[in-house]
Amino acid sequence: MQDILEELENRRERARQGGGKDRIEKQHEKGKLSARERIELLLDEGSFEEWDMFVEHRCNDFGMADKKIPGDGVVTGHGTINGRLIYVFSKDFTVFGGSLSSTHAEKIVKIQKAALQNGAPVIGIFDAGGARIQEGVASLAGYADIFLQNTLASGVVPQISVIMGPCAGGDVYSPAITDFIFMVRDTSYMYVTGPDVVKTVTNEVVTHEELGGASIHAKKSGVADGAFNNDLEALVQMRRLIDFLPLSNREKPPVRPSYDRPDRSEPSLDTLVPPNPNKPYDIVELIEKTADEGDFFEIAPDFGKNIVIGFGRLDGQPVGFVANQPMSLAGVLDIDASRKGARFVRFCDAFNIPIVTFVDVPGFLPGTKQEYGGLIKHGAKLLFAYAEATVPKLTVITRKAYGGAYDVMSSKHLRGDVNYAWPTAEIAVMGAKGAAEIIHRGDLGNEEAMAAHVKEYEDRFANPFVAAGRGYIDDVIQPRNTRRRLIKALKTLANKTCENPWKKHDNIPL
Ligand code: HXC
Repeated sequence: MQDILEELENRRERARQGGGKDRIEKQHEKGKLSARERIELLLDEGSFEEWDMFVEHRCNDFGMADKKIPGDGVVTGHGTINGRLIYVFSKDFTVFGGSLSSTHAEKIVKIQKAALQNGAPVIGIFDAGGARIQEGVASLAGYADIFLQNTLASGVVPQISVIMGPCAGGDVYSPAITDFIFMVRDTSYMYVTGPDVVKTVTNEVVTHEELGGASIHAKKSGVADGAFNNDLEALVQMRRLIDFLPLSNREKPPVRPSYDRPDRSEPSLDTLVPPNPNKPYDIVELIEKTADEGDFFEIAPDFGKNIVIGFGRLDGQPVGFVANQPMSLAGVLDIDASRKGARFVRFCDAFNIPIVTFVDVPGFLPGTKQEYGGLIKHGAKLLFAYAEATVPKLTVITRKAYGGAYDVMSSKHLRGDVNYAWPTAEIAVMGAKGAAEIIHRGDLGNEEAMAAHVKEYEDRFANPFVAAGRGYIDDVIQPRNTRRRLIKALKTLANKTCENPWKKHDNIPL
């Protein structure tokens, strides 16, 4: 019996070594942790239960028959984060470069199916060289099996991808289907085809970093929802993110006790909006002064900066904040901001997370670049996302709410539940100057007359009371009371019911 137990321990030890000490050492030299070290840091201490550590590939081509490493390049299993169940897979670059064989794919699919069945999130950690080249089409089949599970799980359990090394070829599409992608600066990169193929096909010469580093995807392409400085920071932040989310769409997000008074007043907010309507201010200050303990987990802070999105809590209840950012392009809605906001609103709606929207938006960004890029369709995504969302929707207009952007940003007309405005709000078809120039075109050049027309328009619409008079705004509130009023409103919506008509699925303007 003792022999058998020893044999088990030996086999386990062999699997834990992955590609061997030297290769693990190489990972460390590159500033990366090993697949198992990452899981240990991500999950609660001692909670990880590993599955399939003895699985080996079945490939006999290209001399692979005698190159078998237990686990086959991916560590899979489940554990907990702050006591809540999480399924996880972590690609092991030390084993065939973390490349995907058919057995490697089967391990991931097993995790995905268990997570879907048992209603728990999946976190995938990527550090891999794509399809296992020796396996050919079997590897491609394995990828498709994973993509299918990703798609079926979308909107049912949260799926998060953390890119901590290469992520190329087939490996990029699974993360792309998941809810959030996070990268590590300098050590991770994502692309469909690498620099060598790019050079052959387009003659462009680019580095891994220029093609798909964290700086590209977190700032330029918007593929990544954030970038962290190292593996440790990324994993700690994933633990923080998971705390805001329900385990599945069958649950409400976890409410936790708050030490921040629900009736806390913030007198400094009374002067947040500057007297000059063209002067910016930082909308993040409003979010942080509203949320419990100022705790705000911002998503995609470096992409589409004119809209700010992320998670916080109001009296312990997780909410998604969406806010126009006057500090960037005056908070205008453009293609990037619309896409970014829409995807977040849909995530919140899928997972029962109430949405709090702060509005200061001068409209949609004009110009050929935007129109040629399809602003109409992209802007419609945000409109569609807010319109279809049935979770509690709270809105506060702080300053400008002009034109179509007023409608889009969680207005009463799109089933906003509670819509407040600060006294500084201006709810109008457009800015007073633009409006006067159109209505009174004949007076263009007559400065005195134009100034009078601008003033007339401002007096009529540069305030929240016309909209409030029609019931489009439920109340005009003191900025300092924003937190208190939102928390009270949120509590009234705890048992909200709202259903959309039956459909197979909608047809959001993709
Ligand atoms: C098998 C692979 C591999 C792969 C790496 N390795 N990628 N083995 N299949 N795809 C092995 C290497 O042979 C090496 O083995 C070890 O992993 C480490 O790789 P290195 O090249 O030494 O590491 P590094 O210099 O850091 O470069 C990492 C890399 C490079 C950039 C990822 O390995 C690379 O370019 N790999 C190929 C990427 C690729 O073209 N993949 C196929 C994409 S096509 P030894 O034994 O020497 O340590 C695809 C299609 C799917 O994925 C589409 C589905 C939709």
